[in-house]
Amino acid sequence: MDDLLLARLPVCHLLGLAKHVLADEFLAAVVLSDPAVRPGLLAPHLVLVEEPRDALFDRRSQAGGMRHNVCMSVVSPAPGVESIATPALVVDAARVHRNIERLAAYAASHGIAVRPHCKTHKSVEVARLQLAAGVGGLTVAKVGEAEALVAAFDREHPDILVAYPVVDAARAQRLAVRARESTMRVAIDTVVAVEAVSAAARSAGVTIGVLVDLDVGMGRTGMPTAEALAALAQAVAVTPGLRLDGIFCYPGHIWAKPAEQATPLAAVAVKIQEAIDRFDRHGLCHEVVSGGSTPTVFQSHLVPQVTEIRPGTYVFNDMNTVHGGFCTLADCAATIVCTVVSDAVAGQVVLDGGTKTFTSDRCGPAPDSGHGFIVEYPDAMITKLTEEHGQVDVSRCRQRPRVGERVTVIPNHICPCVNLQDAVWWREADGELRPLRVDARGRLS
Ligand SMILES: Cc1ncc(COP(=O)(O)O)c(C=O)c1O
Repeated sequence: MDDLLLARLPVCHLLGLAKHVLADEFLAAVVLSDPAVRPGLLAPHLVLVEEPRDALFDRRSQAGGMRHNVCMSVVSPAPGVESIATPALVVDAARVHRNIERLAAYAASHGIAVRPHCKTHKSVEVARLQLAAGVGGLTVAKVGEAEALVAAFDREHPDILVAYPVVDAARAQRLAVRARESTMRVAIDTVVAVEAVSAAARSAGVTIGVLVDLDVGMGRTGMPTAEALAALAQAVAVTPGLRLDGIFCYPGHIWAKPAEQATPLAAVAVKIQEAIDRFDRHGLCHEVVSGGSTPTVFQSHLVPQVTEIRPGTYVFNDMNTVHGGFCTLADCAATIVCTVVSDAVAGQVVLDGGTKTFTSDRCGPAPDSGHGFIVEYPDAMITKLTEEHGQVDVSRCRQRPRVGERVTVIPNHICPCVNLQDAVWWREADGELRPLRVDARGRLS
């Protein structure tokens, strides 16, 4: 065994990879090509790899590269959370499955389609789980996310909605390129976007589906009135390269507790109905009415006009959704494992994660609750973050975390935390971990 090679990657990482590789066909080639390895090996083995870390996550490069660079030895179990390098974002598979299944059951019982927003996980593998649960398509914020997902999807071509205005020629062209392979739709609220997307679609010889964006109260994007929305829809309907699919809205302003959402959701329903009535008068298509969010997700039926919902956060959840009353701590599938690195200041410990791990997001429904929740020390408060340090007030804890101890943090807002990771750790029910690539990480354009 070559100690130099071993030193290039943390052992836990290699073990996670070994488990990953064993699951696919490439292992057989690896095993047979290396005389040091017994064919027919079934348990996870230590794998020594020369490729840089990123290449490990690329199955295609594994196929090409590992035959030459791998030797195998010591049978060993896959790593547990206690042995991975921190700070580490760990995703609990069982909770993800439960969150996906719960929503699928709710949506099916109300006849609502689910088009989950991939901005939360940015992962093809998680998107596949959502598609397997019966969702009809996926949502992304940016064309770059769609590009990364479609590329990683290989031969599958999911129906993708870009839930973000596309107004510039460059972005519209990239959208049109994707429309050659997949059904692509986009939500827009300006004539500038109509022209940009149409020009790109015509030049690529494709048709792009358009949802016109109605502001239902958030005041971010969207036409303010049914009249303005119908005028924009009319422009879409007569513009070549575009297909008017319907209406888009996002009730992101509703953070009331579920039991108090009937009134604000009724107001959303009234606004959408006004638009639908106007569309009907002008013979405009509203086959799709796309709405929904995580805070309102299980009340979506209170807006009966909505045909599909686009929650994103629900798949992992976070302290925003816990404090909002939309889920429990047990529904939080993504946590960040940190190590206590200092207790030099009285009444305080310091974690090895700061804004580069947790972001600076405060908790919307509980702004005074600190920068996340430490599961093992519920009385502790993460009071201050700098880039790589998280200061924790432990003065109210009866027992305090020791230096070197690992703690589990549920962040305030999981979506931007995932975007800060090249890969996260996927933890199966038996506790074993493997790396899961964040395919669309950093794809912000
Ligand atoms: C347009 C749009 N649709 C859907 C979502 C998903 O909402 P949530 O984060 O509540 O799951 C978002 C979230 O930012 C959004 O901006």
